[in-house]
Amino acid sequence: MAARHHPDPDSPGAHRGGLYRRVAPAVSAAPPAPPLYRDASKPVADRVEDLLARMTLQDKIGQMTQAERQAADPKAAARDRVGSILSGGGSAPTPNTAESWADMYDAYQREAIATPLGIPIIYGVDAVHGHNNVYGATIFPHNIGLGATGDPELVQRIARATAEEISGTGIDWDFAPCLCVARNDRWGRTYESFGETPQRPTAMTSAVTGLQGDHLDGPASVLATAKHYVGDGGTTGGDDQGNTEIDEEELRAIHLAPFTEAVRRGVGAVMISYSSWNGVKMHANSYLINDVLKGELGFTGFVVSDWQAIDQLDGQPGFTAEEVRTSINAGLDMIMVPHEYQKFMDLLRAEVEAGRVPMARIDDANRRILTKKFELGLFERPFTDRAYTGTVGSPEHRGLAREAVRESQVLLKNDGGVLPLAKDGGKIFVAGKNADDIGNQSGGWTISWQGSSGPITPGTTILEGIRQAVSPSTEVTYDRYGNGIDGSYRAAIVVVGETPYAEGAGDRPAGMGLDQEDLATLARVQQAGVPVVVVLVSGRPLDIAAELPGWDALVASWLPGTEGAGVADVLFGDHHPTGTLPVTWMASADQQPINDGDGKQPLFPLGFGLRY
Ligand code: GLC
Repeated sequence: MAARHHPDPDSPGAHRGGLYRRVAPAVSAAPPAPPLYRDASKPVADRVEDLLARMTLQDKIGQMTQAERQAADPKAAARDRVGSILSGGGSAPTPNTAESWADMYDAYQREAIATPLGIPIIYGVDAVHGHNNVYGATIFPHNIGLGATGDPELVQRIARATAEEISGTGIDWDFAPCLCVARNDRWGRTYESFGETPQRPTAMTSAVTGLQGDHLDGPASVLATAKHYVGDGGTTGGDDQGNTEIDEEELRAIHLAPFTEAVRRGVGAVMISYSSWNGVKMHANSYLINDVLKGELGFTGFVVSDWQAIDQLDGQPGFTAEEVRTSINAGLDMIMVPHEYQKFMDLLRAEVEAGRVPMARIDDANRRILTKKFELGLFERPFTDRAYTGTVGSPEHRGLAREAVRESQVLLKNDGGVLPLAKDGGKIFVAGKNADDIGNQSGGWTISWQGSSGPITPGTTILEGIRQAVSPSTEVTYDRYGNGIDGSYRAAIVVVGETPYAEGAGDRPAGMGLDQEDLATLARVQQAGVPVVVVLVSGRPLDIAAELPGWDALVASWLPGTEGAGVADVLFGDHHPTGTLPVTWMASADQQPINDGDGKQPLFPLGFGLRY
């Protein structure tokens, strides 16, 4: 913690300029002992109780309030005692650099600790595949690709690297990992899932350990968040924020299991799902939050809402006193408002003063939140640890990301052993809209909330990886649309699939096939009569059964992120494919939902993956 001190009048500097006349020193009384909550040697529980006893209702309500950075600048946040700030997807300082983030974070802390009680803020971001809001950060494969690796240890190392990059920007709370179990691939958040059965999401709770470290006040430890509790991946039709219509036995067996493991691992926060369970909004579900999560599972961290999620409880825009009361009494401890935070504070205060929200509920929420702030060491070290700022986008982290890309590739077809391709000699043709596009290969939640096509952040495209992989004797030609290909090429690599999206914008209630550009490109390339290797860059399985016979090889690449060279590592044999499907691959879209064991005949089953 940057020492805050006032120069001793007897210190040498005090006499500079001779203006300070030496007088007989007064009998100096011993300075007052610091309040117990400031004593880091005391048990956290005692520090919490001491601090709680000093807090006003406004202070306590402030701790339960999370505002977006654009709604509350540092001085306003401190004035209103806001306890948490977040950056929504893509909400970055200008310039969008690691140093600028750290300066922004420190500005919030500087104002917060200057308040009478000096309670530091906790700042949350969605670092869901690397510190993805920050330009230049390492962008790792999205969770569906990490699920394909089947490697919890790798996921833990990725989370640790991500925690280092987050810490280097000051931020201390990550709204990750998503532990959703994606049951219907029409869902726009399928790529945020590690898999369609609880096994892989449960195993990948190793991300919690990677983010939080062995202890929360360890170097570069950040608070992890298990989200979205519970059943977000099981909605009817794969409708984002929809209704999960299953009995409690299935809810527990499929969707609750990963959260049980995350709680066992000591996850510090849980974010509630927008979705409903059998018609009851999760943000109003006291049974599942108070009784199951906090009671049965013994979760002692704090529960945060999703973005403006309590606004949805009455089906009307905006939030009301009743929605505030209902969600807080259902067990939510912090509300991601995120804009009208003063209105939230006023409504909650009125509910408490009217006795409709018990003070005991307010105190319980504050105990949970303050406990994590003490455990993170925020009172002792509120400012950015700049030793980690240089890790953002570091070669070491990019190397780890490339390893993850390699391990996430799933080989689905390889007729005639066309893969691995030789590195030496001849000509290779590369086509497809996703071959040379960092934005497309990174997907949503990259620099902006929805992500976007183009050179949005530094990295290596799949095409650049191919060029780096082949020997100088090999000529690589690229044309996005396949124009110019002929029989003189020894192979064609066509990189197709989806363009970026996030959340509901990615729902696909209708067709799930390739778009017209991709189909035209593939047809053009296939006319040349050379071996065709298709690389599918997408956030989910696509409906490609009709086209598959015309392809010699198919690799599911998912959303690899900035280190596209990892794809070439598999195409040219520097890494033999080890990935397996974390989700069942439909034979047609009308099979959705299609999951292991449901009796439907898929194109490729859960766990499928070829070797060479
Ligand atoms: C979004 C997402 C959630 C994210 C939050 C803050 O709507 O549902 O995953 O953590 O809002 O960006």
